[in-house]
Amino acid sequence: MDCAVIYGKKSAQHHHFIEAGKDHFNKVLGVPLEGIRTVYTEEGTKLMYNNTDLCEFDAVYLRLLGSDLMYGEHIPEVLRDNDVYTQLDSDSLAIASNKFHMMKVIADGGLPVPKSTYTLSTKETERAGNMLGYPAVIKIISGYGGKGVMKADEQSDIGPITDTLTLFEQDICLQEFIDNPGEDIRVIVVGDDTYAYKRVGGDEEFRSNISTGGNREKIDPSEEMIEASKGAAALTGLDIAGIDIIEDESEEGKFYIGEINASPGVEGTGEVIPADLADEFMEVIKRKAMEEKEL
Ligand SMILES: Nc1ncnc2c1ncn2[C@@H]1O[C@H](COP(=O)(O)OP(=O)(O)O)[C@@H](O)[C@H]1O
Ligand SMILES: [Mg+2]
Repeated sequence: MDCAVIYGKKSAQHHHFIEAGKDHFNKVLGVPLEGIRTVYTEEGTKLMYNNTDLCEFDAVYLRLLGSDLMYGEHIPEVLRDNDVYTQLDSDSLAIASNKFHMMKVIADGGLPVPKSTYTLSTKETERAGNMLGYPAVIKIISGYGGKGVMKADEQSDIGPITDTLTLFEQDICLQEFIDNPGEDIRVIVVGDDTYAYKRVGGDEEFRSNISTGGNREKIDPSEEMIEASKGAAALTGLDIAGIDIIEDESEEGKFYIGEINASPGVEGTGEVIPADLADEFMEVIKRKAMEEKEL
């Protein structure tokens, strides 16, 4: 069986999957997103990379972050039309590329998310802030790695931030702030399995992302967290996902799903979880691709 790993410009970890995939597939081809030509032919739509038709592969692992998610939105549908397995559904990328959209989908599915709003102007963001109360969290809808996530302690913090965001034509997701000491729990869903670790942000930092100075710690997540994470991955149509869980310090056991990541990072996770995640991801992709062939 053959597998392609498609990666966007913002991806930094695709080489781990290309390497790990060699233990599971006969051939693994790394494909940059900007190297793909989507072509409509009499036989339907194809994805060409140089002279290679990616729709002839058995499986494709899509690694896209931030705005690259939008450019790749059509790819899962084309692959599925050609019976190629991918780890996500046709509408997964549209959901995962927008932090407000993903909150809505998860909330509609009955899972706990921070109260969220979606706005395009400073005036409406201030009105949304009055509704949610302060502190609040302002997010660029397509940010990643903690970038584009800011805190507003009071209404007067909104204007300078959202004036800047709208100048750069960024849509805004304003969220209620969940009271916690700058930590969250990252649950990795891989097929039917889950792994989890805690991320602890740097000093005076409310963002717990590793790329903004956070550290990983071992943790035993609750059964509720695992079930909610699996549910969130299923609602967004992802066989492989990273779920950010934010615990509410003001109430024992209470937590919210802060975000779904369609391309979770794996680097450094071997220190806190008993698995080689790159290998696990590629193993699940192979298994699911085989299962689909047998149907
Ligand atoms: N509503 C919130 N309340 C408290 N902390 C939050 C909230 N939303 C995000 N955070 C913190 O900020 C971090 C980054 O936010 P997130 O939405 O996951 O963006 P990114 O895609 O950049 O990781 C989270 O991991 C969490 O630590
Ligand atoms: Mg996150």
